[in-house]
Formats: sequence, structure tokens, C-alpha cells
Amino acid sequence: MQTVVMDTTSTDHLLSTTRSVRLKLDLERPVEDEVLLECLRLAIQAPTPGGAQSWRWLVVRDQETKNKIGAYFRAVGNAYIQAGIEAAGEAAKSGPVARMVRSGQHLIDVIEKVPVLVIPCAQGRPEGGNAETSVFYGGIFPAVWSFQLALRSRGLGSTLTSYHLGHETEVAEILGIPDGVTQVGLLPVAYTTVPDFKPAPRTPVEEIAYLDRWGQAISS
Ligand SMILES: Cc1cc2nc3c(=O)[nH]c(=O)nc-3n(C[C@H](O)[C@H](O)[C@H](O)COP(=O)(O)O)c2cc1C
Repeated sequence: MQTVVMDTTSTDHLLSTTRSVRLKLDLERPVEDEVLLECLRLAIQAPTPGGAQSWRWLVVRDQETKNKIGAYFRAVGNAYIQAGIEAAGEAAKSGPVARMVRSGQHLIDVIEKVPVLVIPCAQGRPEGGNAETSVFYGGIFPAVWSFQLALRSRGLGSTLTSYHLGHETEVAEILGIPDGVTQVGLLPVAYTTVPDFKPAPRTPVEEIAYLDRWGQAISS
């Protein structure tokens, strides 16, 4: 049997350059249903505990609905950014923190202008200890990331956000989401205004991956 050889140049590029896109979202260009369905079709190839597939996906395009959700998003987001600026002190004035503040604030400012807001949901509520909670969220976040990768490979960008979850009940009411269904985030989705992105700086893997025992380097 022959193994399928993947084009790792492309897959590595996809995996290392799928950024949280906020400033480079094209707010004018419409996003077709077909591209969203294509990306969701790929997303739901992700694993779920016991094959449960308990995910549901809310795709929000209606302007009035986006306005209502956007108001909650903005209220929480503004407070979060303000707290972040205060906590960072001088560091918030330049460098990576300043860049994150600028891009985070921009997304908050334009949230209802983003063509599509996607809210991934998991049926049920997280209950119990670490095992149950991990399994609950583990049934949705791999698919969320696959969705973001599929978007990126088609020229669209997104950011996983959590602000609106502070008003999960109100947003559930707006969208008719039944009791017992958990919203896990909100993804603003749009085509990107630039063709490519770069890998982000990360702590070297040698410092954060261990062999056999906590803290023991894999290679020296
Ligand atoms: C669970 C989770 C929640 C997040 N919530 C928000 C959010 O509410 N707002 C936001 O702008 N970004 C949010 N992000 C995106 C991170 O801020 C982002 O990953 C970080 O800025 C690093 O950028 P990168 O994804 O391009 O590497 C979230 C990311 C994760 C994984």
C-alpha cells in the first residue's frame, strides 16, 4: 500500500501562519455561504469524544443581530482591553503589547461590520472535574481550529474570541439557542486584505516540551 505524500511545504506554512486576524479583515467583501460550508465540512472531520459530534455552528449575517451581539462583545471587550492596558503599565505603550491592544481594539470597534460572525456551540454543559471539562471542550476546539485553518487556506481570516461569553444567556436568547447548549466563542470571519501572514514568535519548543519527566529536556 502506498502512503499518500503530503505537500508539507504548504501544510507547514498553513499551520505556522494561521494568525488571529483583526486589522486585516476585509469588511467590504462578502463571504459566500459556499466557502463557509466548505470550511465547516472540513472542520467537522475533527475528533469528538466517542464520535459524539455534539457541535452546532451558528453563522450570523443579519445586520440587526450582529449589532445586538456586537454591543455585548464591545462592552466586555472594552473593559478587558482597559484592564490589560492598566496591568501592562509602560509595556502597553509600545512593542507587542501595544500592537495587541491596537489590533484587539480595532476588532472591538468594527465587530458588527465584519461580514460573518460564527458561534461554535457544544451541546451540553461542562460538568465535573478536569477530565469531564477537558473532554467537553475537547469535543469542539479541535474543530474550531480546523475551521480557522480551512478559512486561512481559502484567503479568509478569523480570530477566536471569548468576550461575548460574559453575556452568553442574552446572546442565546437573541439567537434562539436552547438551554443546555454551550457557546464556546465567537469567530469574526472575513476575507483578508493581505495575501499572506508570518509565523508568530513563540517560546522555543526545547524549553516547553519535556522528555519522560517534567522539566527534562528532549535534546540538549
Ligand atoms: C481561548 C481563546 C480565547 C481568545 N479570546 C480572544 C478575544 O476575546 N479577543 C481577541 O481579540 N482575541 C482572543 N484570542 C486570540 C488571542 O489573543 C491570540 O491567539 C493571540 O493574540 C496570539 O495571536 P496569534 O493567534 O496570531 O498567534 C483568544 C484565543 C484563545 C485561544
